[in-house]
Amino acid sequence: MRLGRLFWGAFTLGAGALLYGALFETERLKLERRTLRLRRWPAKLDGYRVAVLADPHIRDERSIALCRRAVAMALDEGPDIVVLPGDLIAYWKRGVLDMVREALGELAAFRGPVLAVPGNHDYAAGDAAWLGPALEDLHVRWLRNESVILDGVNWVGVDSELAKQADPYAAIMQTDATLPIVVVWHEPDMVDTLPWGPELMISGHSHGGQFTTPWGWAPGTSELGRKYLRGFFPDAPVPLYVSRGIGTTGPPSRLFCQPEVTVLTLRSAV
Ligand SMILES: [Fe+2]
Repeated sequence: MRLGRLFWGAFTLGAGALLYGALFETERLKLERRTLRLRRWPAKLDGYRVAVLADPHIRDERSIALCRRAVAMALDEGPDIVVLPGDLIAYWKRGVLDMVREALGELAAFRGPVLAVPGNHDYAAGDAAWLGPALEDLHVRWLRNESVILDGVNWVGVDSELAKQADPYAAIMQTDATLPIVVVWHEPDMVDTLPWGPELMISGHSHGGQFTTPWGWAPGTSELGRKYLRGFFPDAPVPLYVSRGIGTTGPPSRLFCQPEVTVLTLRSAV
């Protein structure tokens, strides 16, 4: 009898937490302003600001509205560049490209560059290549194992490891050796495999664990989003920033893990 009461108590608590998370926590977008001190970051780029919009998982009206708020929040900060480290959509279905155009539409008016890489969800029931034309319409560069020089920085966009598409070597081989390298790669744990010492890597994928205890322990984590769960890891093989992301994966709820819009200010370490 006592066990039964315990079970129903735990069940009610769990269901209540899920419902609270679904109704409120998923909507509580938090602006994370972080200053990262990076070795070898050039003095002339001291103060360079990067907005990060990770994991919007666009799939329905609610995710579109949240993503639009996230884009507006990022652009209000006046960053130098906007970076989307993957999982733009939750999965492929009819009409999803129009949803992407609606959710990210404001990026087309941004004066600076915008770049994006695929995440594993951008391959769910489809192919990340199909996002290319919609993103081009919004002036978003879709980097899949490619590099591009913007503002005196080599931006290396690596494709998704979980989708078996990643080739960081091909992209890094294209870089200018006199300029710093920032890698954008969806799966954060892949930082342990990065060759040739870039200055920074930016990731998403983990959703910060999505459900955590108040002290940050996450009972369920994603493959390749486990070791580096969220925040800044200055002592990783390459300094790494992992965003908790905007949207949700699995149950559309969060607990003690607010959705995040990030603005990174990059400073030269002294
Ligand atoms: Fe994701």
